[in-house]
Amino acid sequence: MTLTAPNQTGSSTKPQAAEPGAKPKNAPASVVSWVEEIAALTTPESIHWCDGSAEEYEAITNLMIKAGTLIRLNPEFRPYSFLARSDAEDVARVEARTFICSASPEDAGPTNNWRDPVEMKETLLGLFRGSMRGRTMYVIPFSLGPLGSPMSKLGVQVTDSPYVAASMKIMTRMGIAALNLIGPNTQWVPAVHGVGAPLEPGQKDVPWPCNSTKYISHFPESREIWSYGSSYGGNALLAKKAFALRIASVMARDEGWLAEHMLILKVTNPKGRVFHVAAAFPSACGKTNLAMMRPTIPGWKVETIGDDIAWLKPGRDGRLRAINPEAGFFGVAPGTSPKTNPIAVETLWGNTIFTNVALQDNGDVWWEGLTDKAPDHLIDWQGKDWTPESGTPAAHPNSRFTVAASQAPSIASSWDDPNGVVLDAIIFGGRRSHNVPLVVEARDWEHGVYMGATISSERTAAAEGTVGELRRDPFAMMPFCGYNMADYWSHWLSMGETLRKSAKVPRIFQVNWFRKGEDGRFLWPGFAENSRVLAWILDRVDANAAAKDTPLGLVPLAEGINREGLKVTDEDWTELFSVDREAWFEELNGTEEFFANFGERLPGALSRQLGDIRNRLSQP
Ligand code: GTP
Ligand code: SPV
Ligand code: MN
Repeated sequence: MTLTAPNQTGSSTKPQAAEPGAKPKNAPASVVSWVEEIAALTTPESIHWCDGSAEEYEAITNLMIKAGTLIRLNPEFRPYSFLARSDAEDVARVEARTFICSASPEDAGPTNNWRDPVEMKETLLGLFRGSMRGRTMYVIPFSLGPLGSPMSKLGVQVTDSPYVAASMKIMTRMGIAALNLIGPNTQWVPAVHGVGAPLEPGQKDVPWPCNSTKYISHFPESREIWSYGSSYGGNALLAKKAFALRIASVMARDEGWLAEHMLILKVTNPKGRVFHVAAAFPSACGKTNLAMMRPTIPGWKVETIGDDIAWLKPGRDGRLRAINPEAGFFGVAPGTSPKTNPIAVETLWGNTIFTNVALQDNGDVWWEGLTDKAPDHLIDWQGKDWTPESGTPAAHPNSRFTVAASQAPSIASSWDDPNGVVLDAIIFGGRRSHNVPLVVEARDWEHGVYMGATISSERTAAAEGTVGELRRDPFAMMPFCGYNMADYWSHWLSMGETLRKSAKVPRIFQVNWFRKGEDGRFLWPGFAENSRVLAWILDRVDANAAAKDTPLGLVPLAEGINREGLKVTDEDWTELFSVDREAWFEELNGTEEFFANFGERLPGALSRQLGDIRNRLSQP
């Protein structure tokens, strides 16, 4: 093994700028010894310490073009942008291969795959032994959240995938600036990633190395991440779901804050009042759309702070503040169009890595929904010729774009404020064809926690599984909570207690853009028109706009939401809020069964909320 680092020890180290990829002279000892340990285990051919510079990104992408991992898009249409095609077996998060390795299985809880940490570590050491042979191991120091913010956390990922290294540059504050924040006593999360495809001398590489054996393993007690066999999204960009949600949720429980699968918005109303809203929706259920929405109603302005993950923490004034720990968007491409999300389309003008979308003959990208009419000929996400007659999707349904957050024209100037923004409202949503009304306000925090805990949603292509199948996804965190979900609900309830001591607690709402009529069409136009619902929500927060009490919570009056210019008929409107008692009793029975899985750990407040709704529904 040849280490590219010229000086391992001693004080005569050259300035790090002299040798791109070399170990920086000021590298913290704790990081250096860990990197050496992982290198001794995985035996890479070389080690590249990432400095996070533009030159480094350029070099890594050039290397991938040579290797066939990236295709450079036509700069006339998509400057400085690339297309990556993954292995056909490596296209989404693998929830069945995602493990929480806490000492006790009860601490992982019934919604997680638990493995004994000692056994898992043995398995991983076996898999990783020699697994980086013939490859470069990249060392990626990163900050989740603004550099140096009291709400931020640090981590170091090693990976033998240049695709992951380049993506981490876009998705996090990565490089020497993050490394410099690691002092002798600084806590940082080590994250090991390997594609699981060692190369024998002279062996030709494939464009997307991976392994059919996959382990996405989390050790909440020692706060470590080990991921093997996949290079796709949350499986491999370990700052994202593995750290910023699974490990961070455990840190948040212990330290008194919340790590959530939420977008963050800044909204200005026609009176010029500014609000901040966080909203949790399951994967591929509209967070990016809402985060970038361009309101259709006059006088309202929406700006983006984050589109996927939010860290929420009470500030010194007692109010709940939010930061976006990420620095980029890893967004779903299909369905993104000038009509559904014009801001995303503008954001993607260049400097973007696209994964598993289709390639046009002119060297630009395409995906289902981008234009009304598909081009006559494309190269599909698997590199095959495609025409509209092919009968298969040209872009994979979970194809994505990776782009810097700062490139969004809607980005709020406060998006990287180290103090975060004060939250006024929290929204929970899911993809529900039936039963769940367009918008409902919770009576109070406890009712809101019940709403979050009972989100269910039709499955999407973001994870393996049957698309469309209804599944429970509490707080949109089912695949992302690093500990027992019932303890997580208790933590949310206790956060309410803490916040109540301050002047103002964020109000909680539930929304559903996806309700369908009997004819199978969406009853609500959605997308930019969701601004009308957002306006009602913020009118409630600002001035307690009129609302009607129902068994499920508070809903707008018929005239409470401006429907001018919409094709939503009075019948559709009634249907959007209709509550079918029989169907709801069934929902509640399902919830009771679900809650029973958590036994003693289920907070009493949630059973009480369930009982209250049953009582209210039973009243004539
Ligand atoms: P992850 O990145 O997977 O966490 O998901 P996300 O929640 O950011 O998903 P995204 O915003 O990319 O969701 C895209 C999907 O939601 C597409 O299928 C959109 O068509 C659909 N979608 C978003 N907003 C609306 C809406 O208001 N109405 C309808 N009907 N569909 C919507
Ligand atoms: C999700 O699935 O919720 C995502 C994409 O945001 S991934 O990062 O792959 O988890
Ligand atoms: Mn997500």
